[in-house]
Amino acid sequence: MLIAGNWKMYKGPEETAHFCRQLREHPRPTEVDIVVCPPYVSLATAVQVLAGTDVAVAAQNVHWESEGPFTGEVPAPMLRELGVYGAIVGHSERRQHFGETDEGVSRRTRAALAAGLSVIACVGETEAEREAGEAENVLRRQVSVLERDENLVVAYEPVWAIGTGKTATPELAQEAHAFVKSLLDVPVLYGGSVKPDNAPELLAQPDVDGALVGGASLEVDSFLAICRAAIHS
Ligand code: 13P
Repeated sequence: MLIAGNWKMYKGPEETAHFCRQLREHPRPTEVDIVVCPPYVSLATAVQVLAGTDVAVAAQNVHWESEGPFTGEVPAPMLRELGVYGAIVGHSERRQHFGETDEGVSRRTRAALAAGLSVIACVGETEAEREAGEAENVLRRQVSVLERDENLVVAYEPVWAIGTGKTATPELAQEAHAFVKSLLDVPVLYGGSVKPDNAPELLAQPDVDGALVGGASLEVDSFLAICRAAIHS
């Protein structure tokens, strides 16, 4: 089980240090892999404060080139230099607001894996796509650009469930996860309004291998409650 907290555009270095100090001091389930994904400017702080613990630090994106004239982008070798373990790629907010394409997701993922980072590659359909009966076609298209790798996990995040409080039912999540795994044999995390109260049922589904948590990962207590829910799932 892997529980990753995607902080999105929250927590600068000061708040990050505070959160990570609290996380370091709290008892954590050792059988669950725990990852925090702060904004770029807070990565170094998170790595420093969590050094020597079992909590890993990942970035929220990564570029496909190792350096070059790409203003505003950050490449895998620089993340590695910081001590960062992995990166999220293809989050739906990147696809929606920043023109991220399947081709870009493919290039970013391949480059990150080649540089030794782990990758959480995000897929998921919009509400309109699900209502049109297109969910499986969308997932098939998004997953088709990825290749199996021992350091790759996929996060199934239905766009209509992100930040809306509208979680997928455990049955719907299970069905989508099984479908993704039929396309690509990698662990699949669920993301979309995961909270301490719905985590146990979601994580109990046989093909749900963990969670990518947004809002509820911003407080240590709710984040750790979700991590604990993963223990016996
Ligand atoms: P919420 O948990 O806030 O819905 O966000 C999910 C998400 O986008 C994680 O990447």
